[in-house]
Amino acid sequence: MSKARTKFVCQNCGMETPAYYGRCPQCGTWGSMVETVEARGPARERRERGMPATRPARLSEVTSAEERRKVVPIGEFNRVLGGGLVPGSLVLLGGDPGVGKSTLLLQVAGLLAPSAGPVVYVSAEESTQQIKLRADRLGITADDLYLLSETNLEAALDAVDPVKPGLLIVDSIQTVYLDDLTSAAGSVSQVRECTARLMQYAKPRHLPVFIVGHVTKEGAIAGPRVLEHMVDAVLYLEGERYHQYRVLRAVKNRFGSTDEVGVFAMTGDGMQEVANPSEAFLQERSPDTHGSAVGVTLEGTRPILVEVQALTSNSAFGLPRRTANGFDNNRLQMLVAVLSKRVGLGLGSQDIYVNIVGGLRIAEPAADLAVVTAIASSYRERPVDPNTVVIGEVGLSGELRSVNQIERRLNEASKLGFARAVVPAPGGRRQLPKVSGIEVIPAASAAEAIEMALVHGPVGGS
Ligand code: TYD
Ligand code: MG
Repeated sequence: MSKARTKFVCQNCGMETPAYYGRCPQCGTWGSMVETVEARGPARERRERGMPATRPARLSEVTSAEERRKVVPIGEFNRVLGGGLVPGSLVLLGGDPGVGKSTLLLQVAGLLAPSAGPVVYVSAEESTQQIKLRADRLGITADDLYLLSETNLEAALDAVDPVKPGLLIVDSIQTVYLDDLTSAAGSVSQVRECTARLMQYAKPRHLPVFIVGHVTKEGAIAGPRVLEHMVDAVLYLEGERYHQYRVLRAVKNRFGSTDEVGVFAMTGDGMQEVANPSEAFLQERSPDTHGSAVGVTLEGTRPILVEVQALTSNSAFGLPRRTANGFDNNRLQMLVAVLSKRVGLGLGSQDIYVNIVGGLRIAEPAADLAVVTAIASSYRERPVDPNTVVIGEVGLSGELRSVNQIERRLNEASKLGFARAVVPAPGGRRQLPKVSGIEVIPAASAAEAIEMALVHGPVGGS
């Protein structure tokens, strides 16, 4: 096969040039020229590669992908994929460096090798000895697992071909390169073309491929974002590097829902599934301290109980600090303003720190009430009743707004032994939800809810 020709295309106006320009000669945008492999026309491409011509197929002739899904023996992972790995699918696993992408995929490789045929793990980052060392540590002994250390993608695919794998893993897309392009590995054009090449390789062979992509700060290395539109599924592994828990989330999935999350714990023996995340996140709670409240967040369809911690302390400087870990900082500022103005807490001269325990990130407004309750508890130096969960969104006038799927959340709380729940009072003619084993207490405002959640006495100025 002849070496592909490349051209530079302006990402702003589409101008094509044979050479690189720092500034597009047509529209004048700086740094918008990206090197691209020149398309040779699909028909010629197919003939060169010896592939048969395509034809339209009847709906009834098309076999359903459902039947051929490969079930991954890690339940949490399997669920996020939408019930298994679809043949011929390209799955991108993104995440910060060191979060555990390589570890998780090596475990998947080890577990799938016996059932899915040979698995080839191509690493452009580590030597085969390093991977072997890790595999030993993870207790992986699968015989049908092949390791390859190679940065040249074309060479890697040539080496993979004779093995006829049932699953291919490429770690990472930012460190492999194609000879066709002059730009360095990890550049936007390399990352894109390498992904396109993998797709070209995988689709006709019905080979599922996992691609690892490091999330990067803006810079010379392209992040997984640039190829989200090319792959079939995008999974992100999130979590604080120095925390134990990792959350696997699908942000795009052509073969399943993007609602599902999987929870893992990084241990000495690799990533362990956490089948009951609520229990795990609450495990270190000390119920009698100030500034801790338990809320119920919904991750996809799954309710998870989380502990929110808050600390307020007199500020030494004129401008008090508001810092949130695992929670949106702007939302925290807003909630503090509501607490000052509508609940009457004198937080104006207080530094406020909020932490979601376990390294989880919460984006859901239903956790608002847990955050304000934790802050009030710390400020008032009064613990939250240890058997109470608080659920609700807090509005700007201090009102408590209803949240979706409240029964589901209450069920989870009840299952974990909580006896009381403070929830938004239902508006209009709607009924208060009833769940066995848990007393449901309606509150119309954040002030009312806090009063009911804290151990004895009303909340007011000190
Ligand atoms: P790794 O999978 O290499 O991260 P990534 O591929 O996303 O960059 O994981 C790196 C971290 O995981 C490293 O700091 C060590 C830790 N680790 C464990 O805690 N337990 C283990 O069993 C393994 C293999 C790694
Ligand atoms: Mg890695």
